[in-house]
Amino acid sequence: MRNIVILISGGGSNMAAIVWTAAREDWKTRLNAQVSAVISNKADAKGLVFAQGEGIDTAVLDHKAYPDREAFDAALMQAIDAHAPALVVLAGFMRILTPGFVDHYAGRLLNIHPSLLPAFPGLHTHRRAIEAGCKFAGATVHQVTAELDHGPILAQAVVPVLPDDDEDALAARVLTQEHLIYPRAIAQFLNATR
Ligand code: GAR
Repeated sequence: MRNIVILISGGGSNMAAIVWTAAREDWKTRLNAQVSAVISNKADAKGLVFAQGEGIDTAVLDHKAYPDREAFDAALMQAIDAHAPALVVLAGFMRILTPGFVDHYAGRLLNIHPSLLPAFPGLHTHRRAIEAGCKFAGATVHQVTAELDHGPILAQAVVPVLPDDDEDALAARVLTQEHLIYPRAIAQFLNATR
């Protein structure tokens, strides 16, 4: 069985969408893959409760407990590697990763970013899209490389930016699409790498 480890920092709605899709589409049988662990850098991440309810292993590694980024990433890698993952999925994991971490999972590390990359890498993507007068926004699933919010694009979804949109309204519209494209891109990735 190929293990998938999902990293979150908050609500975990993308993680939940992946877990639900994996169950609905029977990834265990069809793709020989399962979500084996959800790891958060925040103890109060709401997604942890969902994962526990689904019987998935959870762990919390508080980045503030480590002296620097390298020490945190080393501990994180140890926690992840305990599951011998075929795939590591960043799902709203709000930490910048060290080059050592990215290298270690090269070719098996995916991220979703709430913009149409290469536009708007980094934070506050929805506000920036509205301020720039964009007529369309969206989300991107990509392989993670050393450069923040770059790397080969696996999937994108596009939504309109409506005249009355504020940041929250646009974020919600984008998020519903994230829940569709991320599980689909992961299934395609698993299918292509079996
Ligand atoms: C999602 O919109 C995701 O694209 C974004 O955080 C949200 C997490 O929501 N990720 C980033 O901004 C990463 N740079 P969720 O916890 O409900 O899945």
